Amino acid sequence: MEKLKIAGGYPLKGTVRVSGAKNSAVALIPATILAESPVTIEGLPDISDVEILKDLLEEIGGTVRITDDEMTVDPSAMISMPLPNGKVKKLRASYYLMGAMLGRFKKAVIGLPGGCHLGPRPIDQHIKGFEALGAQITNEQGAIYLRADELRGARIYLDVVSVGATINIMLAAVRAKGRTIIENAAKEPEIIDVATLLTNMGAKIKGAGTDVIRIDGVDSLHGCRHTIIPDRIEAGTYMILGAAMGEGVLIDNVIPQHLESLIAKLREMGVNIESGDDQVFVNGPSNLKAVDIKTLVYPGFPTDLQQPFTALLTKAAGSSVVTDTIYGARFKHIDELRRMNANIKVEGRSAIINGPIQLHGAKVKASDLRAGAALFIAGLMAEGITEVTGLDHIDRGYSNLVEKLNGLGATVWREALTQEELEHLKNT
Ligand code: EPU
Repeated sequence: MEKLKIAGGYPLKGTVRVSGAKNSAVALIPATILAESPVTIEGLPDISDVEILKDLLEEIGGTVRITDDEMTVDPSAMISMPLPNGKVKKLRASYYLMGAMLGRFKKAVIGLPGGCHLGPRPIDQHIKGFEALGAQITNEQGAIYLRADELRGARIYLDVVSVGATINIMLAAVRAKGRTIIENAAKEPEIIDVATLLTNMGAKIKGAGTDVIRIDGVDSLHGCRHTIIPDRIEAGTYMILGAAMGEGVLIDNVIPQHLESLIAKLREMGVNIESGDDQVFVNGPSNLKAVDIKTLVYPGFPTDLQQPFTALLTKAAGSSVVTDTIYGARFKHIDELRRMNANIKVEGRSAIINGPIQLHGAKVKASDLRAGAALFIAGLMAEGITEVTGLDHIDRGYSNLVEKLNGLGATVWREALTQEELEHLKNT
């Protein structure tokens, strides 16, 4: 096991290239199960979630080849092997195996998903959707059993706008008989990306990216080649870093329209941003103004950037309020930022940040993926050395992090944990 060490306080400059979107990748890979011939996905990020999903596809009989950032999956020999335990528990997105396996095999056994602990993360809307399509579902000893004699299209109204439920229902419905209509669907760009892959595989989907999606089921789906969209959350993380420490950071391979809420907030803080077709240039000013943010479903401010943004706000003059309406308990990074001298208090679903404060290097622990992002940004802003443990979380979502940061002029490296640190981590 390793930790990330950061010598903070250095200005950042240069170009960083964004990888393919994690939250698309984790749905696109299970979606390949639905095809009957090989599917190639280009531009995948080099992250552990992708590795785990590759292993899971192999467990059910898929042949998977990865070269550079391209994955080819031959799903023809897959079977509906139960996956009640093991690697499915390692990531949240293993729930997409439910929709994809139900769509192809009409049955699946999948362990309840793991992933970041952000407070309660129910999957009732996924289940509601599968049941509406005709599946019988039981929960036995931590695994979900799904079975259907046949899947029939249905009209499904989501009580909560959910990215996962929207995609999962789409995955099952493309192979149902007749028309499915998902109302109050989520509109995130990743949903459009998955719908594009499925359409290239022969599915009939209209309205992805709006709140009503219509799917006409088909009898079979075929292989295709698909290029994943850039990761808007990784891009946003580097934009925040550019605002905090940048003396001219160019973020390459980004769709600026996916980040309008972040760009608006950074401009409100006084950050100079120029955006082109697939690039964004960020220049951090010496004085940042405090702003309030409230996370919302897309196109509102993304909850996944709330934690990194909190780190930036420690440098802003005045009092900022960050409210997370999606995950009210997504504040595990705050105690760690306090160790680094931040002046922040949490009240209910909000964090109140008073600045400007000079952060100091400290030993901190990433409790989840985006808490990790908040901490490496804080470490780069801080005076002195910061050590971040919990790297397994960060590795789930940030491709080639050390190389990318050092490419911008940072001084960051990985180091093996000492025996004492390993013991301490085990006990916390
Ligand atoms: N919800 C329910 N019932 C459900 C599903 C969701 O009540 O059946 C609630 C959740 O508890 C939450 C809200 O609805 O309060 C939104 O959850 P959503 O289903 O949209 O989240 P998700 O699909 O599980 C994805 C991303 C998350 C991201 C959220 C919100 C993936 C694999 N994960 O999760 O990404 O925070 O959407 O945008 O796509 C991350 O990348 O760090 C991350 C956690």
